[in-house]
Amino acid sequence: MPALVLLGAQWGDEGKGKATDLLGGSVDYVVRYQGGNNAGHTVVVGDQKYALHLLPSGILSPGCTPVIGNGVVVDPSVLLSELSGLNERGVDTSKLLISGNAHIITPYNVTVDKVTERFLGKRKIGTTGRGIGPTYADKINRVGIRVQDLYDESILTQKVEAALDVKNQILTKLYNRRAIAVSQVVEELLGYAEQIKPYVADTVLVLNQALEDDKVVLFEGGQGTLLDIDHGTYPFVTSSNPTAGGACTGAGVGPTKISRVIGILKAYTTRVGAGPFPTELFDEDGEALRRIGGERGVTTGRDRRCGWFDAVIARYATRVNGLTDFFLTKLDVLTGWEQIPVCVAYEIDGKRVEELPYSQTDFHHAKPVYEMLPGWSEDISKAKSFSDLPKNAQNYVKALEEMSGAPISAIGVGPGRDETIEINSFL
Ligand code: GDP
Ligand code: IMO
Ligand code: MG
Repeated sequence: MPALVLLGAQWGDEGKGKATDLLGGSVDYVVRYQGGNNAGHTVVVGDQKYALHLLPSGILSPGCTPVIGNGVVVDPSVLLSELSGLNERGVDTSKLLISGNAHIITPYNVTVDKVTERFLGKRKIGTTGRGIGPTYADKINRVGIRVQDLYDESILTQKVEAALDVKNQILTKLYNRRAIAVSQVVEELLGYAEQIKPYVADTVLVLNQALEDDKVVLFEGGQGTLLDIDHGTYPFVTSSNPTAGGACTGAGVGPTKISRVIGILKAYTTRVGAGPFPTELFDEDGEALRRIGGERGVTTGRDRRCGWFDAVIARYATRVNGLTDFFLTKLDVLTGWEQIPVCVAYEIDGKRVEELPYSQTDFHHAKPVYEMLPGWSEDISKAKSFSDLPKNAQNYVKALEEMSGAPISAIGVGPGRDETIEINSFL
């Protein structure tokens, strides 16, 4: 059982941080393979709450080596402040490994993210403003800056020059902004180099050797399946591949090594930022889900859009990720509803559709077809086994499992580590 992938099955914020932390005590490595500090992963340990953005959630498990893979984009100032914030709280971060091939989010990438969104006006994506899209764009355009470039001043200067050449034209002529000086960027980046150096490693080699030695490696996704650049609701997506294949390219591990792919699935649905969302609620139920579920963005503090569970999306996540299991989170939030609607299909221009349409226009027109499932009123937050759940909660879980296409192997009934019902072991 060497390598597992744990990823978001919806639009992010499914509870990946909690699920990763739960497994963190039993695995040797936790690896972030894509995204950057656009993520906000909450981990609750006893009375302590941590919000991790760039660092893998495994950093909170003492026996575990946290790894930032080559597919991640790293903002060095965020990295250092997240590390010092954890150190101040007594967390040992010395085991962290960062790929020398990971790309750096430069100050100009953050600027470009913000001005582009402003320029798009009402067509904006609603990004987190952290420079994610522009950094991946530079990577694909082959003008990106990598962690290893921090250790060769001449190469770094040449690369920043190449990247700013066109960008400064755009910033000054199109966006009416001031040009960014190469020397200022180089100086800032070099200022981080020595502090980051102890963590930089050939993470591809380290992880493949660990797998040879039968160590257990957990890949922790950021964002979620529907935010994937290839498989999500494009263009309202992030600029990386949170789906399972991203773990291979973003960490340098072959698909033959991966034995389990766990989809984290919220018992209802949320989304932050713009884009289609068929089961979104604009009524008191939506407000109640937001309030009871504490649905406010960990990174940007924006209210999350809330809606009922969407089985079409869950089935899609099973398919594009080859999911072997689901971890159903936040079941406790649904306590108290007499009836719980679940979206089982869409109606698109008068036709019933069972699977996610590939056409963006069709998805924008999709209306949810609901099935009503009976709710429960008993407090389930202390449940330790499936049989502790009230019959209707059990039936809700079973119905979701049947519709979603993979076994539900764990259920979250609260934010804490212990507030979990484990059905099938992941390891
Ligand atoms: P992530 O980005 O996928 O790691 O998820 P976030 O941390 O952004 O959002 C999930 C929120 O739900 C956090 O506040 C978690 O503490 C909380 N949470 C996770 N699992 C459960 C659960 O089973 N029940 C409840 N009530 N809260 C949960
Ligand atoms: P975690 O890992 C929810 C969303 C943004 C925006 C879109 C593009 O905590 O689940 P970006 O800054 O990535 O270019 O923004 O993606 N988004 C997230 N939504 N959870 C996240 O991360 C997200 N990371 C990005 O709101 O709609
Ligand atoms: Mg989050």
